[in-house]
Amino acid sequence: MCGIVGYVGEKQAQAVVIEGLRRLEYRGYDSAGIALVDGGAVAWQKRAGKLANLEKAIVDEPLALSTTGIGHTRWATHGAPNDANAHPHLGRGGRLALVHNGIIENFVELRTGLENAGHELASETDTEVAAHLLELELDAGADLTTAMQRVCCRLEGAFTLVAIDATDPSRVVAARRNSPLVVGLGEGENFLGSDVAAFIEHTREALELGQDQVVTITREGVSVTGFDGSPSEGRRYHVDWDLSAAEKDGHDWFMRKEIYEQPRAVADSLLGRRTPSGALQLDEMRLSDEELRDIDKIIIIACGTSFYAGMVAKYAIEHWTRIPVEVELASEFRYRDPILNASTLVVAISQSGETADTLQAIRHARLQRSRVLAICNTNGSTIPRESDAVIYTHAGPEIGVASTKGFLTQLVACYLLALYLAQVKGTRFGDEITEVMDQLDSMPAHIQTVLDDEAVYALAREHVGTRSVLFLGRHAGYPVALEGALKLKELAYLHAEGFAAGELKHGPIALVEDRLPVLCVVPPQGRDQLRDKMLSGIQEVRARGARTICLVEEGDESIEPYADVLVRLPKVPVLLQPLVAVVPLQLFACELATALGHDVDQPRNLAKSVTVE
Ligand code: F6R
Repeated sequence: MCGIVGYVGEKQAQAVVIEGLRRLEYRGYDSAGIALVDGGAVAWQKRAGKLANLEKAIVDEPLALSTTGIGHTRWATHGAPNDANAHPHLGRGGRLALVHNGIIENFVELRTGLENAGHELASETDTEVAAHLLELELDAGADLTTAMQRVCCRLEGAFTLVAIDATDPSRVVAARRNSPLVVGLGEGENFLGSDVAAFIEHTREALELGQDQVVTITREGVSVTGFDGSPSEGRRYHVDWDLSAAEKDGHDWFMRKEIYEQPRAVADSLLGRRTPSGALQLDEMRLSDEELRDIDKIIIIACGTSFYAGMVAKYAIEHWTRIPVEVELASEFRYRDPILNASTLVVAISQSGETADTLQAIRHARLQRSRVLAICNTNGSTIPRESDAVIYTHAGPEIGVASTKGFLTQLVACYLLALYLAQVKGTRFGDEITEVMDQLDSMPAHIQTVLDDEAVYALAREHVGTRSVLFLGRHAGYPVALEGALKLKELAYLHAEGFAAGELKHGPIALVEDRLPVLCVVPPQGRDQLRDKMLSGIQEVRARGARTICLVEEGDESIEPYADVLVRLPKVPVLLQPLVAVVPLQLFACELATALGHDVDQPRNLAKSVTVE
């Protein structure tokens, strides 16, 4: 949510910053702006709308050449997405330019103080207040680093701030609290970004920053302090993907590319998880076997698609370990006064590792002495850093705003966690665990089979003009139905709802009308009780005129009489079925949104990595 870029070095900052913003645009596309240090002044430009509008403005009115600059792509919180509220924001005298991600919670009080002192603010944003305060510090003689430290001590809330001072082209200064910021380490140049995509074409060496730190980058180096000015440091790491992973690679959308990357992402997330003797190992599991054996309850917290991965995890963990599992929306968790103690394991699932609701939930859990394990795709992000243990997924960067390969690899991590707990607690025999691991190892090939069947494209295109779609599932297929509906809502802007098939008759069946498309995730054969109940649900909606589109295992003929359309899935166990069943639903949403002419990678009102509560 909001993308931030900073650069100081030998190259033209404008090109570096604009390219960085292009790679971060998925974090927000309400407006974009740039500021450069230009011989004692700040040169800047900003425009509402997508980055292309800013680029056009720069062509019309070129900025000066400079090797020091900052940039911003916005997801609006305070103030409408117009030119005035776009970042950068300037201090009163125009000496300082600032970009910001997050929310400064005490900005009203600070703004009143500034206005009483005669400041006129040009925008409705919380950010401009910080710009004025910083410039006041500079005018009082502080350098930009000291000014940033002092101002941060006065701010409440969540913020990443990145600033330049017109009188000092040698540095860019940034600060972070509860909001993401990483440093890119180059030769004779250094970078700042909301995430590493901002500078991946220049360097794969990065510095992860801690909470409440100020960082100063110059050509020569990087220095880190606390808000109180005390020396501090970040954690250096190497980014394990390169520029090609952040390109569309011939696809029309990042999302489509990411859907097709899923066999590889799943395989990578399974890699190296078994010792030569066949036992499961999780490298980043920093909790001892003893600690894990003490766990008597698991609470999974997550948002959106990651929450649905958590719902699938509940089935797997309870089945394989017999440990009771609750799944909770991260945004609700703290407010219900959850019962937690040292034997509760809280599992936080987050692709980005920066989701504010999830972050606040794990902080709450840790205050109650619970151990926290993160399942995360982003090295260097806040949630794994603040957790006791982590299982990293290896999906590579997910740039499409709608999560796809993030979801599948989260499922893999959840299965691994469940099996690992079963191994440690002895609730499953070694050969049972090996059997599931072998089944997991065959999943990339099964996912590929689903991807190779392109019939779902034509099916999606038939639904241009449809206003409402329902999704039904049972057991592990229920979260798949919810995920299918979420994908369709966020990409095609349609009314789409997922239901547990058994619930239908308790109310939602009233929605069914003639020709209403109902996508049904049918449990595999072998779980006949479940399948038979699903069949009843399908018959009930069909009897009321629905058009049933059934995702059903190959070789299962029993559904045919009740399906208007059959989408075949490979034969896999019921607990692993979400890994294949969700793929046609992803393709369906992507293709339908494309046919409707929507921007699939940047759906309206959304942004990736939701860093505000
Ligand atoms: C939906 C989607 C979101 C995210 C949610 C959590 O396609 O992408 O619902 O799943 O915002 O994000 P993370 O996993 O980064 O915490």
